[in-house]
Amino acid sequence: MSDNEWDPDDYDSSHGFVAAYGEDVVQLLDPQPGERVLDLGCGTGTLTAEIADSGADIVGIDATAAMVEQASERYPDLQFSVADAREYEPDKPFDAVFSNAALHWIPDEDHDAVLSMVADALDGDGRFVAELGGRGNVAQIERAVRAELDTRGYEAGHPWYFPSIGEYAPRLEANGLEVTEAALFDRPTALDGGEAGLREWVEMFGDDLFDGVGGHDHEAILSGVEERLRPTLFDPETETWTADYRRLRFVAAPRQ
Ligand code: BEZ
Repeated sequence: MSDNEWDPDDYDSSHGFVAAYGEDVVQLLDPQPGERVLDLGCGTGTLTAEIADSGADIVGIDATAAMVEQASERYPDLQFSVADAREYEPDKPFDAVFSNAALHWIPDEDHDAVLSMVADALDGDGRFVAELGGRGNVAQIERAVRAELDTRGYEAGHPWYFPSIGEYAPRLEANGLEVTEAALFDRPTALDGGEAGLREWVEMFGDDLFDGVGGHDHEAILSGVEERLRPTLFDPETETWTADYRRLRFVAAPRQ
């Protein structure tokens, strides 16, 4: 799992677009009253609560204790737990597993264990509805950070996994899930925070890229990243940074 340092308050106040965009994925899930739904990587529970509003009986799991603590405080009537998705064992099968903007934090080599857990957790006619960063997601941002790190002699880690349809569909199938819908699409995403929006995004989500980087270099790298990306990702009129998001969205079902 990722070592990213999450600040749940900051996540909610400055990066609310994550949940806002996730509403499309909730619509695709189309949760029904009484259905049992697992929210895999629930974060601070915003979408979990939205799914619960439909009358579904939902359980949210997340690997980060601080996120689960915040979710439980915000929505005390809902069920949340800290769990490793590779090893999660539900008491009863689910009608649906939902996941938004979480699977890309799980390292490539752990996805088969997670997908196998999902297949086991689903009822025979259940469904898995998910969205994650797809191939090429935040490629401009990642390239700029790597270039700035490289200039100063640092080697960046690989915190995210952004697969293509061609790469991920066979993994779903190999783990007993049949893909019924899949799309990979650009979704340029305006960042909150005005002029500071890009550095706030990098500081929130790019922690793992900065392992071993000292405080002074950290600041210089963030400024260097801004200068590299200003011509393509910053709109001076609206003072808004736009991240080059690409999403992989899919629906899968247990193979009969
Ligand atoms: C994403 O939702 O695509 C994403 C979020 C944080 C880091 C990388 C990607």
